[in-house]
Amino acid sequence: MTRSEGATRRDVLARVLMGAGLALSYGLLAAQGFLFLLPRRLEPKVRWLFAGRLDQYREGVVREFTGLDGKEILVRRSTGGIEAFSSVCPHLGCRVHWVPSRKEFFCPCHNGVFDGDGVAVSGPPADAGQRLARVPLRVDDAAEVVYVGVRDVRKG
Ligand code: FES
Repeated sequence: MTRSEGATRRDVLARVLMGAGLALSYGLLAAQGFLFLLPRRLEPKVRWLFAGRLDQYREGVVREFTGLDGKEILVRRSTGGIEAFSSVCPHLGCRVHWVPSRKEFFCPCHNGVFDGDGVAVSGPPADAGQRLARVPLRVDDAAEVVYVGVRDVRKG
C-alpha cells in the first residue's frame, strides 16, 4: 500500500462517516419537526374511579380516596348532594382533612379552615379568598354508584 492509497481510503472513510452523521442529523431534525406539528392532547384524560355505593354515604360523613396521582380526594355528602374535593390545600399544598366534630376541613400547616363546601373561612386561604379544588364526581342513579374523576397520570 502506498501512501497516496492510504490517504485516499482515509478520505473515503471520512466522507462516508461525515455523510452518515449529516444524514442522521437531518433525520433527527425532521423527526423533531414532525413531533412539534402533531396535535398535543390539551386536556389530561379523566378516569372514573369507583367511589362506593350511594347508600355508603351518610350526610356529614367524608370518605377518602386516593387518585392515580397518589393524592387524596375527599368525598362528602350534604343535604345538597355529594361533592368531591382535592385534599391539597390551595395555600401551600399541605394535606387537608375533615374534622367531623366541627363539620369543616382543616389544614394543619397554617390553621387553614374550610367549610363543608370547601370555601376557606379562616387562616391564610381565607385571606387569599381560596377554596378547595373540586374533583369531578358522577352518580349513576340507576346503579346507585358514585364515581370520582381522576386525572390519568399514565403515559400513552
Ligand atoms: S398550606 Fe394549608 S393553610 Fe397553609
